[in-house]
Amino acid sequence: MKNLNKKKILLIICGGIAAYKSLEIIRLLKKNGSIIKTILTNNAKNFITPLSVASLSNEKVYTNLFSSDNESEMDHISLSRWADLILIAPATANTISKISYGLIDDLASTVVFASNKKVFIAPAMNVRMWEHKSNKENLKKLINFGYEIIGPETGEMACGEYGEGKMSEPKFIVNYLGKYLKKLEKNNKLKALITAGPTQEYIDPVRFISNKSSGKQGYEIARSLFENGFDTTLISGPVNLDTIKGINLIKVRTADEMLEATLNNLPVDVAVFSAAVGDFKVKNKKKEKLKKNNISELLLEKNTDILNLVSNHNLLRPKLVVGFAAETHSIKNNSLKKLTEKNCDWIIANDISRNDIGFESDFNKVSIFYKNNSEENLPKMKKSTLANKIVNRIISKLN
Ligand code: CTP
Repeated sequence: MKNLNKKKILLIICGGIAAYKSLEIIRLLKKNGSIIKTILTNNAKNFITPLSVASLSNEKVYTNLFSSDNESEMDHISLSRWADLILIAPATANTISKISYGLIDDLASTVVFASNKKVFIAPAMNVRMWEHKSNKENLKKLINFGYEIIGPETGEMACGEYGEGKMSEPKFIVNYLGKYLKKLEKNNKLKALITAGPTQEYIDPVRFISNKSSGKQGYEIARSLFENGFDTTLISGPVNLDTIKGINLIKVRTADEMLEATLNNLPVDVAVFSAAVGDFKVKNKKKEKLKKNNISELLLEKNTDILNLVSNHNLLRPKLVVGFAAETHSIKNNSLKKLTEKNCDWIIANDISRNDIGFESDFNKVSIFYKNNSEENLPKMKKSTLANKIVNRIISKLN
C-alpha cells in the first residue's frame, strides 16, 4: 500500500499473548516503507524482547518513562509528536482502561495522552474480559474521544476458550491503517468551513443580545473534519471551548464579523453552518451606555443570513452546504422550509425544547433532511459521536 510509504508509525505493544503478532505487523509495515518506533509496556517484555523488536524495526525501542537515555534522545512528548499515527496492538483490557480513565503511569499511556495524532487500538483479550461491562464502557469512552478500534475477531483463543477478543490479523490491521491514510490523503485536498457558537449583537459598549449556543456541536464537527484530513477553518462566536490544534480558528463576536470571516475564507468544498447567528442587530448602537429610561430608542434590524448568502452565491457556493435548524416545534416542516428557502443540500435539525439535548448538553438528537426528500432520524448520542457520523456522510458525498 503506497499510502504507508514513509509514514511514521508509533507502535505500542502491550503485554498479551498476541504480542508475538506485533512482530508481523512491524514486518508488514516495513515492507510497505513505513518508519516504526516502538514502545513496549513492562508486561509486553514478558512476551517479546526489545531486541527482537529493534532488530525487525531497525529503530530504537522505548520502554521506560523518564529514562535518562530515552528522554535525552527523544522525550515522551516528542515521541508522540513524531508519529503520523499511533497503533496500540495488542491493546490489553488494562491499557484500554488506563487510557479511558486518564491513568498515565508508564511511557505508553503517557505518550498516548500527550498525543495530538489519531490513535488506533487493536484489542486482544479473553472473551469474558472483552465482554465485561467495564471494558465495554471504557471502549465507548475511547470511541467518543475519537480513538478508532480495530477488531477484535471471534475465534479460538490462546487460553483454549472460544469467542470474541482475538486480535485482528496483522495483515488486516496494516490494511486498515493504509486505508485510513489513503482517505486522509484524499481528504487533504478538501477544504471545510464551519461556523459555530452564538453571536453577540452589541447594544452599547457593555451590553449585547446573544443566545445559549455553546458551540459544542460545531467544534466537534470541525474536530472530526480535521482528523479526517480536511483543511479546516472554524469561524467561532464567543464560546468556552478549547481550541483544536491544527484548525484555522477565527474568533468573531458579531454576525457581521462572522459574515466577513466566512466570505474571506471561501471557496471551500464543504461548509457547515452550525452557528446560532443572531437574527437581529441594533441599528443605532450606542457609543455610551444606554440609560434604562431610554430603552425605547433601540431599533433593531435584520442580520444578513450567512448560510443563505453562501448557498445562493453563484461563484463561491461550496459543493456541499449543510445548514442547521434549531426548532422548538414543527421540526420537520420548519426544517424542510429552511432546506428549500436557504438552498441547502442538507439541514440538520435539532429539537431545542428538550433540556437533555441541544445547546449546553454534550448530547444531541437530530434528524437530517436531504435535498432529495429523504430523511434520517438519528438516536440520541454524544455530540462527538454525531459529529463523526455527519463527517462520514460528508466524506461519502464528496468522494
Ligand atoms: N444562519 C446564518 N445566518 C443567520 C441566521 C441563520 O447562517 N443570520 C444559519 C444557521 O447557522 C443555521 C441556519 O441558518 O445553519 C438556520 O438557523 P436558525 O436559527 O434555525 O433559523 P433562522 O434562519 O434564524 O430562522 P428562525 O430563527 O426564524 O427559525
